[in-house]
Amino acid sequence: MNMRNLILVTGGAGFIGSNFILQWIEQESSLVLNLDKLTYAGNPRNLESVAAHPAYRFQQGDIVDRDLVGSLLQRERPRAIVHFAAESHVDRSIHGPDDFVRTNVNGTFSLLEEARAYWSSLPEAERDTFRFLHVSTDEVYGSLGPDDAAFSETTPYAPNSPYSASKAASDHLVRAYHRTYGLPTLTTNCSNNYGPYQFPEKLIPLIVLNACGGKPLPVYGDGQNVRDWLYVEDHCRAIRIVLSEGRVGDTYNIGGCNEKKNLEIVDTICELLDELRPNDPVVPHRNLIAFVKDRPGHDRRYAMDTRKIERELHWRPKETFETGIRKTVNWYLQHEDWVQDVTSGGYRQWIAKHYST
Ligand code: NAD
Ligand code: TYD
Repeated sequence: MNMRNLILVTGGAGFIGSNFILQWIEQESSLVLNLDKLTYAGNPRNLESVAAHPAYRFQQGDIVDRDLVGSLLQRERPRAIVHFAAESHVDRSIHGPDDFVRTNVNGTFSLLEEARAYWSSLPEAERDTFRFLHVSTDEVYGSLGPDDAAFSETTPYAPNSPYSASKAASDHLVRAYHRTYGLPTLTTNCSNNYGPYQFPEKLIPLIVLNACGGKPLPVYGDGQNVRDWLYVEDHCRAIRIVLSEGRVGDTYNIGGCNEKKNLEIVDTICELLDELRPNDPVVPHRNLIAFVKDRPGHDRRYAMDTRKIERELHWRPKETFETGIRKTVNWYLQHEDWVQDVTSGGYRQWIAKHYST
């Protein structure tokens, strides 16, 4: 039986996955089936605007469930799998690594096994065009010193948190499924994303919401840790390009060439809010900055060498940090309902548990 003009997206109700699906439906012609367990990080509201679109369908389910994944692949016959589903927050991985190993390692394994079985059953011509795209992170490469060269696709893996270790393990499995079985895989390793629909446990939305509410802005350690920041829509466009033009079996580093210290990020958000929300409980907002205990094993610096994707696939970010952060802050200010929805019971428990220790 032939493949259909459909892609299976895992984890499409999360931050990057939902931005990806929204962009895909606007820009591409294939149908999308979104398989998502709807953990605390998955929110069907992110996809409200396409929920009734004829090109979109949702299936709630767990990628660890091989029977489900296998029967979904046989029934739906996708031409590609784009794999976002993961536990994604470093601090949660420190409090409780179990779910990270379960979803990121076992989940990727079950997806690979079922993809291999499905792919092996395809007619030869279709086996050549099928793709398994695995979405990963720069954190697998470990931590850089201030003068070290940026991570390239050949930098040895040196993950330091349970999150990055579980993502590294999944990357290795993907590599092995290509080398051993010939599964047509692609892997992308991207730096920190920011933009609409990011769950406010991550730095940027957390700072925006706390600052508006007059709550402390927790900065870990000395605030001098460096991250490379990329606007989420640029990441989604890169994934679409890698999916259509990437060399099978290869990995591609994606980043914004936009290194910032955490304290600079917090300062920028505070300045924007001083302008946009002059009547907030505490202004200037930077008076709320509170240095708190450092994250154990906190990576000092990430930086990405993105020359390969620029040279081979002609991708470059379109958004500058200045325009991207302004759009992002405005998005959170204009989506109070969404914020209310995601900052309910479970979220409050996390904040109370994590920031009280
Ligand atoms: P997220 O936490 O916002 O969303 C994860 C999604 O996966 C949620 O919708 C959740 O319900 C779903 N999910 C979790 N466990 C599942 C399971 N067992 N079965 C099915 N669905 C499950 O994550 P994100 O920030 O959107 O990240 C998406 C991917 O991109 C992850 O693989 C992450 O490692 C990678 N990544 C993220 C960043 C970043 O800055 N956020 C940067 C680089 C790479
Ligand atoms: P985060 O958004 O959790 O992404 P990651 O750990 O995957 O890079 O954190 C980004 C940076 O911000 C990281 O160096 C940790 C720091 N941070 C804080 O200083 N305070 C906070 O409350 C959070 C959530 C993060």
